[in-house]
Amino acid sequence: MNKRMLKGKSVLIAGGSSGIGLATAKSAHSLGARVILTSRDLQKAVRTAAQVGTGVVPMQLDINNEASVNSLFRSLDPVDHIYIAAGSTTIAPLLDNQLEELLKGFNERVVGSLRVVQAAIPRINEGGSITFTGGISTDRPIAGAWVSGLGTASAEQLARVLVMEFPHIRFNAVSPGYTDTPMWDQILGEKREEVLANVAKTLPIKKVADPEEVAAAVIFLMCNRSITGEVIHIDGGGRLV
Ligand SMILES: NC(=O)c1ccc[n+]([C@@H]2O[C@H](COP(=O)([O-])OP(=O)(O)OC[C@H]3O[C@@H](n4cnc5c(N)ncnc54)[C@H](OP(=O)(O)O)[C@@H]3O)[C@@H](O)[C@H]2O)c1
Repeated sequence: MNKRMLKGKSVLIAGGSSGIGLATAKSAHSLGARVILTSRDLQKAVRTAAQVGTGVVPMQLDINNEASVNSLFRSLDPVDHIYIAAGSTTIAPLLDNQLEELLKGFNERVVGSLRVVQAAIPRINEGGSITFTGGISTDRPIAGAWVSGLGTASAEQLARVLVMEFPHIRFNAVSPGYTDTPMWDQILGEKREEVLANVAKTLPIKKVADPEEVAAAVIFLMCNRSITGEVIHIDGGGRLV
């Protein structure tokens, strides 16, 4: 594996304005890739791209919206590598909520990712790759987060089921454990630090992951031309406890 392989390659980050996607955008940029950074909010993408560095291209993308996905790929030259960070976490008890409402989280991660794949396949260079995002809830479900567990498991399975259909492209997934990103601001609010500190105590390595550590796995999957159909877990041993 040679990280210099990213030099001059175009790398699209679906959900590059924050957390793991942003860390991946920074890493790819530092390795000489031509980075396309997306947010649902174009102005946010513009601001974030400017922070990441010169030449980073900001674009609008909402993977829930087919027109947005198609419009993005129509406006781009062929790309080499795509990382789909986009996806939200739904924590809501099954019996208290309408199924259709709950399944929006599942649809975003799975149908949204498939929308990106459908639009990308004709526009991705041979030898390119698509990396999906799963998560610890595949293996360690928590009460009320069944939607997320279904979604992450399916996103990880996407990395396997598409390999035979499109063998000229590699498909992989990262599966983050608890990772210190702005995602937790929204979910935990003021309790964020306390909850993440308590989670860290339960992990074999006694720390939650940094977004840069998950990004490093994404970059590894982009650069290693012999890995396809793989899921890399960055969970500090969280699946073992
Ligand atoms: N942090 C963790 O502990 C953890 C653990 C397991 C899995 N994950 C997964 O890892 C991924 C990245 O998480 P993160 O922690 O980095 O979260 P984050 O900081 O909240 O970042 C989420 C990113 O996804 C974008 N996004 C959200 N919904 C989107 C949509 N419908 N279409 C396009 N872009 C969308 C956001 O962009 P805008 O808001 O600017 O549109 C943002 O750039 C997510 O799929 C998350 O579920 C995270």
